[in-house]
Formats: sequence, C-alpha cells, structure tokens
Amino acid sequence: MLILGIESSCDETSAAVVKDGREVLSNIILSQTETHAKYGGVVPEIASRAHTEAICPICSRALTQAGVNLSDIDIIAATNTPGLIGALLVGLSFAKSLAYKLNLPFVPVNHIKGHIAAAYLEYPGLEPPFLAFVASGGHTSIMDIRDYLDHQTLGATRDDALGEAFDKIARAMGLSYPGGAEIERYAKSGGSSAVKIPLAKVEGHELDFSFSGVKTYVINHINTLIQKNGGLSEKDRCDIAASLTGNAVKSASVRIKRALELTGHKKLVCAGGVLANSHICAALKELCGELNTELYIPDKKYCGDNAAMIAAQAYYEYKMGSLN
Ligand code: KG4
Ligand code: ZN
Repeated sequence: MLILGIESSCDETSAAVVKDGREVLSNIILSQTETHAKYGGVVPEIASRAHTEAICPICSRALTQAGVNLSDIDIIAATNTPGLIGALLVGLSFAKSLAYKLNLPFVPVNHIKGHIAAAYLEYPGLEPPFLAFVASGGHTSIMDIRDYLDHQTLGATRDDALGEAFDKIARAMGLSYPGGAEIERYAKSGGSSAVKIPLAKVEGHELDFSFSGVKTYVINHINTLIQKNGGLSEKDRCDIAASLTGNAVKSASVRIKRALELTGHKKLVCAGGVLANSHICAALKELCGELNTELYIPDKKYCGDNAAMIAAQAYYEYKMGSLN
C-alpha cells in the first residue's frame, strides 16, 4: 500500500511516499528556517504563504523521487492537528482536494502520533506497546502507547515546550534561530552544572513538565550577566547551554523513569525535533541501560517535522481504524 503523506503544521513543507507504513520511498522536506530567522521565530502568516507556494512542487518531487505516479498512490494523508492553523490548512486542503479528485481515501493524522510513528520507519521490528517521550518546538509529553491507535498521555508540559524554551533562551543569548541546534553546539564546551537552574515540578502531577520558570530563570541570568559585563562571553554561552541541557535531561529522565515503573514498559521511543540533540540522546541511552529498557530514537532526519512519519501513522490509522 503506497501512501502520499503531507506535513505543513509549522515551518516545514514536506511530502513523502511510504510503502506499507514502514518503507520510505521518498521524503522531501523544504524548511522555511531562513525565512523566519530574521524574526527570531516562526511568523504564522509568512509560514502559510510559503506552504502555499511550496506544496505543489514538493509533492511532485516526492512522487518523482519515489519513482511513482499519482495513479500508483492508494491513500493520501496529511497532518490535521496540532499546529499553526493557517499552515495546517494549506496541507490539509491540498491533500483533501487531491484525494477527492483521485477518488482515494483521505487519512487525517495527529502530528504527535506522527512523531512517534517516525520510529517505525527506522526499526522494522518495533511494535506497540511501549512508552513514548516526545519533545519538539510545540510539545513535550510522555505517552503510554498501548497500540498503534491507542495513545494515552501520562504527562505533558503545562506551559512551554522544551524546544520552545531552548529557542527562546538561545535568542536571549544572541544565537541564531532555531536555537536548539545552537544550544547543542555550545553545550559541548560548557559545564553542565555551571549555572544552577532549579528543576521544575508540577505539584501533584509527577509526570507533567513545566519549562516557563526554567526559561525565565535562565533569561534573568543572561540579563544579569549582560548588565554586569556588557555582554556574554563564549564561556558564558557554553555554560548556559550545557546547564540548560543538563536541566532538560534531569527533568526528562526522572519522569521517564517513573512512567516506566508505572506502566511496566521495557521499550522507550523518543521522538520530536529536540531528540536531534546528541547530549540528550546519550543521556537517555545511559538511563535506558540502567533501567534495562530498549531505547528507540529515530535518525535526525525523522526527528524533526517530516511527511514520512505522517504517512507511517496514516497506514495504521487506515488499516486498524474506522477509515478503511
Ligand atoms: O519536531 P520539530 O521539528 O517541530 C515541532 O513539531 O515543533 O521540533 C523543532 C524543535 C525546535 O524547538 C528546535 O530548536 C528543536 O526542535 N531542535 C533541537 C535540536 N534540533 C532541533 N533542540 C535541541 N537540540 C537540537 N540539536
Ligand atoms: Zn513536530
């Protein structure tokens, strides 16, 4: 079964052709990063317009690279939520219109479920049940994946997502957008406990996250250094990046450990843009080694937003859901 997947929830226009939910025949991603960089973050209206311009050529490229025609496609899928509404609408209306014209089933896919399904593309033997940790620019959650379609959220952020906190702190440090990758680069040469960032807790909800206090604490620290010294030194930037990463790792590890205990899962899938971070991946690997848990993290190219992950989840939505 060939699925044409489309993703346009934020600032990547992507189209992919995936066979039977697991084999990627093509996965074209056009990032708008450069367009938004001068504003220090994604500008929704600009994102929607850029998606509108890109959607047709990106889909054509995905079909060409996969070596298939539209007539070979069995299902069309697109991200329907969550995301920037204008951006989502571009991919969604395009995909629905195409499905209508070709008389094919249309499958809407939840973006977070898509991030988790990215792991199916990398690990052919991976099947639910397992625990999932998703960390991206818009989401941070721990989920009990009981089956391909049965996802229970055990904990989520009450305010900022982890990637968002990284991006905002990076901006306050004068680093380029998107800040996550820059934080990773600076963290390499910093001390992970050089800045004593308090660990946030949500009282009575041990698996929920909170990053807005962490963000405020670090931004205040940055402003104090700037006032005192007239700017940040390279060492300041490295120490802040490493300490922030250390805080994120501790925050995630304690909740993942608890969620593994509560659910009894022995498999952990980690996904989302933030999992492109090698320090976070290494720490999770160590944690899973200690807890005798199998760890599955998709390759970088499937961690960030992409349409192959949407097509992967769409396969199971169609096969096992009410849409077939
Ligand atoms: O999954 P994604 O591409 O989009 C959303 O669904 O939000 O995630 C984007 C987020 C951004 O906040 C970006 O800064 C972060 O992932 N990110 C990273 C790294 N690469 C991207 N965060 C930490 N380290 C990285 N290497
Ligand atoms: Zn995403």
